[in-house]
Amino acid sequence: MSVRRLAEISVQPAHFAFNAENSAWAEQTIRKYPAGREQSAVIPLMMRAQEQEGWVTKAAIETIADMLGMPYIRALEVATFYTQFQLKPVGTRAHVQVCGTTPCMLRGAEALMDVCRSKIHHDQFHTNADGTLSWEEVECLGACVNAPMVMVFKDTYEDLTPERLAEIIDAFERGDGATVPAGPQNGRIVSSPKPGLTSLTDENAVLKTTRDREREEAARAEAAGEGTPAAESDAEVPPSKAGRPVTDAPETNPALKTPSPEKADPEAEKAASAQPPEHDAAAANKAEPAVEGKAKPRKTKPAASEQPEMKSPELPDGDPLGADGKKPRTRKKPV
Ligand code: FES
Repeated sequence: MSVRRLAEISVQPAHFAFNAENSAWAEQTIRKYPAGREQSAVIPLMMRAQEQEGWVTKAAIETIADMLGMPYIRALEVATFYTQFQLKPVGTRAHVQVCGTTPCMLRGAEALMDVCRSKIHHDQFHTNADGTLSWEEVECLGACVNAPMVMVFKDTYEDLTPERLAEIIDAFERGDGATVPAGPQNGRIVSSPKPGLTSLTDENAVLKTTRDREREEAARAEAAGEGTPAAESDAEVPPSKAGRPVTDAPETNPALKTPSPEKADPEAEKAASAQPPEHDAAAANKAEPAVEGKAKPRKTKPAASEQPEMKSPELPDGDPLGADGKKPRTRKKPV
């Protein structure tokens, strides 16, 4: 676990203020919370301040605390707890967050970090010489299916190779970051297979609504005396076998219909059934000789009449409790 501290005073700006647009947004955001609960807006306001300034300054934390009527220490706790808040200046054109969690690491995140080390700075949280780029390793950013990936501002760049990340960093360095398409960088659409869909390709087989619509259209066409007879379009679509195990068990035979059309005779079924053994309470109350080594009766609770009389610990002498729930004082007998 890393210690998160504010940046040195030398880099902290003296003042912070939301610009006009963000100021209106902040007021509206605070109004979303009930009176007395305005402090709940601290995280969205800090995120907005970070988007405006690039990082969360001490002045921004204190200004937001003042806006929400909360002690500075409470706002500082929030800013230093959540790693989404950058507490030091980051690159002015891009701060590259490289996911270093297991799926991305297994798919080459270390090589992506090497690219950042060589193109930006050897150490994370340090800007390059021009102050335009910085990088850090972060935990899972939720695009594991397209690992490895990085995030810059609010966009993710997925299915990366070191060469492609180098190109992306160069684009941001030139100020052309907006031209880089976000998402997978290997040509696939979101997380579908690169060569295209391999399953659920036949909408007609998948969607009952599509089949119903086609049936209705065919019925309408037949009623109007044109096109396909309804019988043709009513062809039954067999149920999908997707996800079903291959088995020879008779109960999985689709030829067997349930419920069976042949009704069973309950009396005949009862007569054919094996009868349970007679209940023997004494035998049932004994442990299995094979388990115990010998037949031994279980301990059972004695009958109420055999139980010793219980005395309440509060009433050792049997005196009743007083109205205040305490035992009355015993009067000393005069000597
Ligand atoms: S492990 Fe990298 S995005 Fe989830």
